[in-house]
Amino acid sequence: MNIPVSREECAALDAVDPLAAFRKEFTLPEGEIYLNGNSLGALPVRTPEVVRRTVEDEWGQGLIRSWNAAGWTDLPYTLGDRIAPLVGAGPGEVVVCDTTSVNLFKVLTAALRLRPGRRTVLGEETSFPTDLYIAEGVTGLFEGGRSVLLPSLDDLDAHLDDSVAAVVLSHVDYRTGVLLDMAEITERVHRAGALMIWDVCHSVGALPIELTACDADFAVGCTYKYLNGGPCAPAFLYAAPRHHAVADQPLTGWFGHAAPFAFQPGYQPAEGIGRFLTSFPSLLALAGLRASLEIWEHVDLAAVRAKSLLMSELFIQQTDGLDLVTPRQAECRGSQVAIRHADGFAVVQAMIERGVISDFRAPDLMRFGFTPLYLSYTDVWDTAQALREVLASGEWREERFGRRGAVT
Ligand SMILES: Cc1ncc(COP(=O)(O)O)c(C=O)c1O
Repeated sequence: MNIPVSREECAALDAVDPLAAFRKEFTLPEGEIYLNGNSLGALPVRTPEVVRRTVEDEWGQGLIRSWNAAGWTDLPYTLGDRIAPLVGAGPGEVVVCDTTSVNLFKVLTAALRLRPGRRTVLGEETSFPTDLYIAEGVTGLFEGGRSVLLPSLDDLDAHLDDSVAAVVLSHVDYRTGVLLDMAEITERVHRAGALMIWDVCHSVGALPIELTACDADFAVGCTYKYLNGGPCAPAFLYAAPRHHAVADQPLTGWFGHAAPFAFQPGYQPAEGIGRFLTSFPSLLALAGLRASLEIWEHVDLAAVRAKSLLMSELFIQQTDGLDLVTPRQAECRGSQVAIRHADGFAVVQAMIERGVISDFRAPDLMRFGFTPLYLSYTDVWDTAQALREVLASGEWREERFGRRGAVT
């Protein structure tokens, strides 16, 4: 499809957009353009009612009966099965629980135990830091364990020796929006005898993911970005079926037990994906996720990808001349565009005052996340326009735009 070159052409594309109907599924402040769905997704209209029902009916009236009667006990599995098609996995291969960091701790430890004699974990220096911190923590628990951070993936082959137990990479980079070739990298890692763990936080709900087809060993991801599960919504974990019977994860809590309500003193892991559970996730947080995943049942991920790429191409074209960090090649790009600017923080604050909400990642990147379910081509056009105006006017230089809160 051709990239629109005027606001009128954007409006014409919006009029025939097959995803346009999803906009009414979300509550967004009037008159604002929200480009942070890659950080905290928008509130689905249906969520408050689902959460209210969970609180007032299931908890308030059903009380303890709701564990069985309202299907609470099954939620980590039923919600995992709803996420599975979004990541190219089958039923019983994804479970919803804990946070991305905690899930990474579990699968990475399991991976090291599956590769006895190998004690190195490879990661990328620029990955989201929690992944690197967890790799450091996990390898610290193994004698001779070490976490090696590559400055660039060009160095991967040189480091893939027989000491490497696992490689942990982000499918889409949280800062630059670079999309990695999951199939090709997984194959290279497997050829070296190591296991491949993918962090799909920035790709789930943004583009089709094929964990099974790519032969990934494990994956972790969050649900509060493109999946709109709500602030701090529970994360998910994927394990390839070949690892289910043998994976030995370290957070052996009662919900990962084969018979949690037998209350036996010894730990016996559940069969299947259930062994990756530890405790039961927050029920109210699960309710938020349950609501948003109802929407995802009706979403065509190919259409999401096509719109996302056209939106990011439009934005790149309309901000030509700025310091683009995100790849121009569509196949190397996730669903966000990053632009480098030494005063990016202040520029983003000035944009926010105009009602265009994006964010900033230190030291100098402005991030613009494109969420095809609730953004239009016209929104993208207006965002590029606002950015050009803010930069041209120099309004970002006003002192108040330089003040930073705890969260940037
Ligand atoms: C790529 C990536 N991994 C991990 C995390 C952290 O997830 P959690 O807070 O669920 O541990 C984030 C958070 O934004 C992220 O972007």
